[in-house]
Amino acid sequence: MKRIWNHNKIAYGGDYNPEQWPEEVWQEDMKLFKQAHIDIVTLNVFSWAALQPSEDEYNFEKLDKIIKLCTDNGLKICLATSTGANPAWMVRKYPDMLRTDHQGRKLKYGGRENFCPSSTTFRKYAARIAGKLAERYGSNPAVIAWHVSNEYSGECYCENCAAKFREWVKAKYKTIEEVNKAWNTSFWGHTFYDFEDIVVPSELSEEFTIYGKQKTTFQGITIDYKRFNSENIMDCFKLEYDAIREHVKDTPITTNLMGFYFPLDYQKWSQYMDFISWDSYPWLGEPDSHIALSHELMRSLKRDQPFCLMEQTPSVQNWQPYNKLKRPGEMRMLSYQALAHGSDTVMFFQMRRSIGACEKYHGAVIDHAGRADTRTFREVTELGAELDKLGDKILGSVEKPKVAIVFDWDNWWATSYSSGPSIIINYHDEVYKYFRALFKRHIACDIISVNDSLDRYDVVIAPVLYMVKDGYDEKLRSFVKAGGSLVTTYFSGYAGESDLVFGAYPGKLRDILGIWVEESDALPEGEKNSFKYGGRTADATILLDLIRPEGAEVLSVYDSDFYAGTPVITKNSFGEGKAYYIGASSDEAFYDSLIKDITEEKGITGVMDPLKKDGKAVAAAEADEEDKNDGTGIAFDKLDVTRRYGDGKCYTFIVNMTAEQQNIELDIDGTELLSDTVYSAGDKLTLDPKDVMIIESMC
Ligand code: GLA
Ligand code: ZN
Repeated sequence: MKRIWNHNKIAYGGDYNPEQWPEEVWQEDMKLFKQAHIDIVTLNVFSWAALQPSEDEYNFEKLDKIIKLCTDNGLKICLATSTGANPAWMVRKYPDMLRTDHQGRKLKYGGRENFCPSSTTFRKYAARIAGKLAERYGSNPAVIAWHVSNEYSGECYCENCAAKFREWVKAKYKTIEEVNKAWNTSFWGHTFYDFEDIVVPSELSEEFTIYGKQKTTFQGITIDYKRFNSENIMDCFKLEYDAIREHVKDTPITTNLMGFYFPLDYQKWSQYMDFISWDSYPWLGEPDSHIALSHELMRSLKRDQPFCLMEQTPSVQNWQPYNKLKRPGEMRMLSYQALAHGSDTVMFFQMRRSIGACEKYHGAVIDHAGRADTRTFREVTELGAELDKLGDKILGSVEKPKVAIVFDWDNWWATSYSSGPSIIINYHDEVYKYFRALFKRHIACDIISVNDSLDRYDVVIAPVLYMVKDGYDEKLRSFVKAGGSLVTTYFSGYAGESDLVFGAYPGKLRDILGIWVEESDALPEGEKNSFKYGGRTADATILLDLIRPEGAEVLSVYDSDFYAGTPVITKNSFGEGKAYYIGASSDEAFYDSLIKDITEEKGITGVMDPLKKDGKAVAAAEADEEDKNDGTGIAFDKLDVTRRYGDGKCYTFIVNMTAEQQNIELDIDGTELLSDTVYSAGDKLTLDPKDVMIIESMC
């Protein structure tokens, strides 16, 4: 069991910016934190300007005071390196720190995360301040983690980045001939004669926006630029990481991520982070399963350890079009949902609301009234007391999924920059459709990279696996040969790392799947074909493959159009395993049935599987109907249920994600930790609206 940091309970607190307040207020904050059971603060996120007011001047006086105050008050500290926004003097003196945007405009001072990642000035001074902070505060035992920068983001297209990109390309391909081959530059006569010919792909060169989507004329160049930019910004993280490590031996170092964040390949980044932390800001009405998918992606970046929920709002956001309040109980419910999916912390942005600038209407534990008798403060306090009661339970425990969904950033870039076959192919959405079906069955699932081993899984789902990198087909082949079940879909197996098409689709996956795809029909939004599956008629939408079986069994065929009667779903026996091909996108009930069939074939059941009623499984659609009809039956899709495993113990989380009561039948004996109630397998429980149970059992 690996804990994320040295703290003996679920850390509870968040971003605290006392530098925005007069010192009199700090004492009041300490009092209120104690009252709310707050035990950790993230400090110093945006203080670079204060810490380094000029080239050679550093001033730690105020931070010394703040750290002493927090330490004296028994708070743990997650100490940020302050480099999330540049000091104004530095930018005025060294304009190389400024970014150039996608339209080629050199930006002026403003905003945050506004540094050019290639700027030697930024790199020098960012590493220096991180080092100085580590030297000064690294030995304070209250500092249990380091938080580098804040939500790294974006891209830069300046001349310094262009020069670095050329070096990166040279290091990768060695010769210009190899570059020309990889990017297929004989198309449109783009042949490069020299590395100096290469410019960054932006709106000034290869990229353009059409139908509201960003596209490129050369996917190879764009994908490589994405890789470069992600690594270039990651190098800035690593520089600060190393500067901290020079002074601090063991304290773990992180940076706060943002879930499915398109520009940065977090699977690469995670290798250099000691633990994963992320900021969860669900949009209004975001489905629970959609939020869960983001948690699972973040958790799976390090599969064998918990993550840290670094930020969430206790009450309200400010940057949505309509910033609706979290309803009573909602913050608690979402906090437990994060714990259910592997977090060992519940942390907020922010502790006290600022009075000016764009986040003054963002929720905080202490809002503008500065009082403890507010709904938000009360809810925070109540949750704080519960987390105190949980103590060190669950810390370090992890899920043990037998199912994985493959998610690959290069593939995300490749599919979204593709010109054709359809602008509505959406990699993340397709992943979500499979995930949602698992979520509804309470089946745990890792969201893995193509570098993760498949050894621990029985089922691997790789939706829209357009890009098959060198060796990945072999990894999948061995997995299926050894008895695993593989599921993949339309628009899979087309191209390699440089987005050059292999030949007949699905390329290197053909033998595993026992099919080839002759043509694909991209239906406009709203248009559909259909097929029969699981006793019902399912939609076929988005991209419809015209499949030619080469040994695979046909599970279903299209109902209409000139390809009526031709295969849409196939299953191939390969070695000891099975490989399923889903030739079109479909509807929710189809994925429910498919996941039911595939997991049952492998003997995988969910935690308190809602499809098991009176000991026997019922069809997904039927279960849903029953649930709708009697309201007392199976809680299908209403509860987020997970199980985390620790040393000999397991923790079953049941979170009622609805505003109504929900029922469930327990499949394990154990003690509910928030109420100390003892339960036995077979007990029928009723959860109040938005309520949660955490059942500790021997496992
Ligand atoms: C992000 C940032 C915070 C703050 C919040 C507001 O997550 O990291 O500094 O801006 O958003 O929601
Ligand atoms: Zn730049």
